[in-house]
Amino acid sequence: MKKSSIVDRKIKSLYVHIPFCEHICFYCDFVKIIKPKDVNSINKYLNNLQDELASYGNKFDDIKSIYIGGGTPSCLEINETIRMCEILSSYKKESIDFEYSIELNPESITKEKLEIYKQFGINRLSIGVQTFDNNLLKKIGRIHDNSTAIEKYQLAREVGFSNISIDLMYNLFDQKLDNIKVDLEHIKKLKPDHISWYSLIMKEDSVWGKKNLKLPGNDELFDEVVSKGLKKLGYDWYEVSNYCLNNKYSRHNVTYWNNSLFAGVGVGASGFEQIDGQYFLTVNKGNYASYKKNYEKLSTEDYYFQVIMMGLRMVKGIDLNKTKNKTVYNFYRNIIDKKIDQELLEVVDNFLRCTKKGFNIMNEILVDFL
Ligand SMILES: C[S@@+](CC[C@H](N)C(=O)[O-])C[C@H]1O[C@@H](n2cnc3c(N)ncnc32)[C@H](O)[C@@H]1O
Ligand code: SF4
Repeated sequence: MKKSSIVDRKIKSLYVHIPFCEHICFYCDFVKIIKPKDVNSINKYLNNLQDELASYGNKFDDIKSIYIGGGTPSCLEINETIRMCEILSSYKKESIDFEYSIELNPESITKEKLEIYKQFGINRLSIGVQTFDNNLLKKIGRIHDNSTAIEKYQLAREVGFSNISIDLMYNLFDQKLDNIKVDLEHIKKLKPDHISWYSLIMKEDSVWGKKNLKLPGNDELFDEVVSKGLKKLGYDWYEVSNYCLNNKYSRHNVTYWNNSLFAGVGVGASGFEQIDGQYFLTVNKGNYASYKKNYEKLSTEDYYFQVIMMGLRMVKGIDLNKTKNKTVYNFYRNIIDKKIDQELLEVVDNFLRCTKKGFNIMNEILVDFL
């Protein structure tokens, strides 16, 4: 087949990385640096973002979501925030279901910034609260306290945001089940539309990882309390660590788990792209002043494994009505049948998914697909 006759699948979503933070949390190994004092560095970063976006030509014509993540996008000053939003505004679509999200840290949220986000069409906020316990917040290296988190959440509601997500963590050092119960009480009062509640992962490159700290290992117990507690409050569990009210799941993140194509711009950002019919994982390597996109070509088997690994994170599972997923299912048929016999996987309404037992040992299940 001639290259020119290959029609690539469309890019569905765009991730934009803002790597600047006001402080470094002890558990975090994301690509981030302390915000430089020199404003030219940030302007230069935004200029580079603009060039990188332009290099995609018309590939973003059909995107359904933009996600500005970090780092801490809310730590940009007002003029930098406006510039960032202006650069992205030509990629935003006018359709009513277009999801446009930004990650915020409580301490750097201001009314003026919220109004700018709103004015530029950002319609979903993700606020990094992590825990409502002030002692724990200090221990994990955060610089906000619980009253700031609550106040800024309420401010965002007053400015008119009707889709707000909160990030929380469990299995933190010294965290007790009572702390989780207090977090659940706050959730009950605040009623965020969406919650990402992650179990702490000890990352080698984090401050804690470098000190060789070991995880407390209470995650299964906490997991149970978190998921039962949120269910009681009316939240739907739709992905390993994600819950929502009223079907307000993260449209953007679902594109990752469904193996749709997405582009990542900015230092450290990853993407999943198709070029001339070939799948590539991309990652922008370098530093915030200068970085370069690296392409890792996926073999057919790598691609199939990715469909399984990402898709099984969804509670609903992998849609076997889609031809590409059915092909993957047929490829792994023997392994899948074995896992179904062991009651770790099941097919329900033509979706392949983990059973409750399977969800608890997902990593072990995945190893057998390798
Ligand atoms: C990398 S942060 C970026 C957003 C923002 N700066 C913040 O801190 O909320 C995104 C989320 O990843 C989660 N996260 C980061 N490191 C983690 C780790 N080691 N284990 C579990 N979750 C982690 C936190 O819940 C955090 O809110
Ligand atoms: S968790 Fe957020 S604020 Fe903390 S260091 Fe990581 S990106 Fe920065």
